[in-house]
Amino acid sequence: MSIETSAIESRRTFAIISHPDAGKTTLTEKLLLFGGAVQQAGAVKARGDQRRARSDWMKVEQERGISVTASVMTFEADGCTFNLLDTPGHEDFSEDTYRTLTAVDSAIMVIDAAKGIETRTLKLFEVCRLRDVPIVTFVNKMDREARDPFELMDEIEKTLALDVTPATWPIGQGRDFHGCYDLIHDELILIDRGAGNKLPEIEKCAGLDDPKIDARLPAALVEKLREDVEMIRGLCQPFDEESYRAGHLTPVFFGSALRSFGVRELLQGLGEMAPSPRPAKATTRMVAPTEGKVAGFVFKIQANMDKNHRDRVAFVRLVSGEFKRGMKMKHVRSGRMLAINNPVQFMAGDRETADLAYAGDILGIPNHGTLRIGDTLTEGEDLAFLGVPSFAPEMLRRVKLDDPMKVKHLRRALEQLAEEGASQVFRRQIGGDYVVGVVGPLQFDVLKSRLLAEYGLDIEFESVPFELARWVDADDKKTIETFADANKMNLAEDHDGALVYLARNQWYLQRAKDDYPNVRFLATREQI
Ligand code: G4P
Repeated sequence: MSIETSAIESRRTFAIISHPDAGKTTLTEKLLLFGGAVQQAGAVKARGDQRRARSDWMKVEQERGISVTASVMTFEADGCTFNLLDTPGHEDFSEDTYRTLTAVDSAIMVIDAAKGIETRTLKLFEVCRLRDVPIVTFVNKMDREARDPFELMDEIEKTLALDVTPATWPIGQGRDFHGCYDLIHDELILIDRGAGNKLPEIEKCAGLDDPKIDARLPAALVEKLREDVEMIRGLCQPFDEESYRAGHLTPVFFGSALRSFGVRELLQGLGEMAPSPRPAKATTRMVAPTEGKVAGFVFKIQANMDKNHRDRVAFVRLVSGEFKRGMKMKHVRSGRMLAINNPVQFMAGDRETADLAYAGDILGIPNHGTLRIGDTLTEGEDLAFLGVPSFAPEMLRRVKLDDPMKVKHLRRALEQLAEEGASQVFRRQIGGDYVVGVVGPLQFDVLKSRLLAEYGLDIEFESVPFELARWVDADDKKTIETFADANKMNLAEDHDGALVYLARNQWYLQRAKDDYPNVRFLATREQI
């Protein structure tokens, strides 16, 4: 079967990684504006503020409709179809944020020009590195007091162990920010210092010695620009597409999302450099996006639009083929065929029924709990996609239940919620306590409210003497048994029965690693 390869080649499925407040929401809004998707500036921003205000499950639930539609934003620009996957950021930071990065082909890393690489950015970058996801860097807020751009480039290079090469270079900063020089297209891009949303002015130049530059900028800034660029050309290697696509080099763009400056160049850069849907690794083989048959995997579950029905939407990343509504797909884990009659797609904030979708696109499939994170759908082939792992939680709490008659009920509820992927549950080998793990603290509140609202379980969380959880693995059974015998107090099982070591802190984890060099302590676990 032949399929529209041009539709696949023009797709760019990406996410934005950043530390809270670096400007992800503002940049998202401006990208959508440039993509012609959102008429009204502020639409995305309003959502950002609402998210920040979330404090309990009722509020979370009220906003469900909003957050579902914001999970994927599709827009078109420069002949490309962009799928921007939202990575929940503030209090709604969770394992979903990490797992979304398993469903993209590239990412934009937004950095606050005054702050450089911050903790959350670093964590998200490490998740990208697991799959060598190529990264384009956007240094934001150049209209404010910023750090020296050379210093920032040096920090990116050293902290992330990435080669850096500027794609644009800033001219001045803060009040004196005049714009950028586009080193790839030889263009002078000047900021409109008046209105925030006005498009910057672009002057095509014949290189840096072009007298047009002298005519447009103060002499001191021109001199500095020429010196800087000479230095860059001596210090940085030129942009190398192969190295970028292998995740070894990041092109850097400078700008101000608030003033819509540098956003057009960033989007253009993404269209030109970022990969179209990449082949994906499955248990039996690699699957190419241009293959005729449709295949995809679930990377996120959004729960209970209607709490009485336990409705869930499974977000499926299409890896190959051309999807048509009504297709029958094999749910590989259960072996059952499912008719996908009412899939949804998300065009710039609106949910629409998806009649046609291609590799790289995201489909929302409503279901009653059949689909789990990591599940594969195919047209019949028995294969399972790899690389949609569980991530080790970063916070652990014991679940305290007053009514002992409800222990079984609790177990089922926690397992169901763990399958959705926002939290994890571990059952300790000694005592049988349930320990819940999350990567963002709001998930504890969400979990407590949902257990009460959906399962009628009133629970409390108590602290535990553990900070870290690692899945335990080794080449032979004996090694695991020896380790398990000596560490019973620290062992638990996850919702799939996999063995987990709970460590008091980093020091104890390191000691376990030193004492048992043949045991692997894994921070991620494949879902198959
Ligand atoms: P986030 O999603 O990454 O958390 O960041 P968000 O876009 O919400 O931006 C955080 C703050 O930084 C906002 O200010 C926003 O206006 C500001 N900001 C974003 N990009 C730029 C930029 O290029 N230049 C400048 N000067 N500021 C920028 P706030 O005061 O928190 O919100 P608001 O009251 O302005 O809406």
